[in-house]
Amino acid sequence: LAFNTFGRIFTFTTWGESHGPAVGVVIDGVPSNFLLDLDFIREELERRRPGKQGTSPRKETDLFEVLSGLHEGKTLGTPICFVVKNKDRKSGDYDTVSHIYRPGHADFTWHRKFHHVDHRGGGRSSARETVGRVIAGAVAKLFLRTKGISIGSKILHIGDQLVTDENSPEKLALQAKHENDSVGGMIEIRAEKVPPGLGEPVYDRLDARIASALMGINAVKSVEIGSGIASASMKGTQHNDPLSSDGFTSNNAGGILGGISNGMPILTRIALKPTPSISQEQNSINHLGQPAKVTVKGRHDPCVALRAGVIAEAMLACVLLDFFLLNKMRRW
Ligand SMILES: Cc1cc2nc3c(=O)[nH]c(=O)nc-3n(C[C@H](O)[C@H](O)[C@H](O)COP(=O)(O)O)c2cc1C
Repeated sequence: LAFNTFGRIFTFTTWGESHGPAVGVVIDGVPSNFLLDLDFIREELERRRPGKQGTSPRKETDLFEVLSGLHEGKTLGTPICFVVKNKDRKSGDYDTVSHIYRPGHADFTWHRKFHHVDHRGGGRSSARETVGRVIAGAVAKLFLRTKGISIGSKILHIGDQLVTDENSPEKLALQAKHENDSVGGMIEIRAEKVPPGLGEPVYDRLDARIASALMGINAVKSVEIGSGIASASMKGTQHNDPLSSDGFTSNNAGGILGGISNGMPILTRIALKPTPSISQEQNSINHLGQPAKVTVKGRHDPCVALRAGVIAEAMLACVLLDFFLLNKMRRW
């Protein structure tokens, strides 16, 4: 078991390293005879792409090639393989840190676990891997759309500053960059028109699967559902969502009760840590355990939250579609 695959019925397997020739994804469990809107998948990748204001200046076009699973634009029900070439690799930027663990990065843990690591651009631990997740998520969104379900996200704050019309996420992220620093952020992700009945009551709860999927994104340090952390300081009279004949009148539950969707919007928030790569000198050790100073070069996002919304939406879409297909298997 190597755990590069996500999902049970609707599954995707990502592959590739940040500075290898390409990254990609193999998506399986896709129902057949479905016209796949490749332009929509391109649009979703464009939302994730680096090189825009306030993000990493790495210039990737993120154009994909489909190698299998489609004929005349429609799904065959066989695995769909997408390949995205890595075009803008500057691996030399990583030469000076090849034997030093960069603080906040996966270098230390990967080296201790695997003993042989592609350090260039973070290798497989780089968020370049999320290209495959966004493609799989776009495919899932297209299926969910036929059920009326839409998924969106917005950045709530960058560092301790609320995002407003005057304070755009890009502006707040660039402030951190000008200080040679990075900054964290909070994103809200919403799925509208999810019907009641997705998820299982005990070991396959919808909220547990969503939390795992979102927590599995690089740099995510907390996941909230509904009123989340604030629930701990609320009273039952405030937190219970009253029912009326038109449905629930509030949504502290975030659309999930007892592990099962209740028909209200699925509401989640994720907190992302500040980008670990900062251009200031930091203390670390080398592979021999000796003290070493490290200044991280390369092109980096001053705030990873700027590009993470579409990735979080993708993971939520894949969880929801998987539960739809699981429900189909359980009911005659
Ligand atoms: C969309 C996105 C972009 C990212 N870009 C960078 C980056 O440019 N530089 C960097 O140091 N980390 C970046 N990260 C974060 C690292 O991948 C991550 O923090 C690191 O691999 C350690 O993993 P962990 O934070 O999940 O423990 C990015 C994360 C995401 C979600």
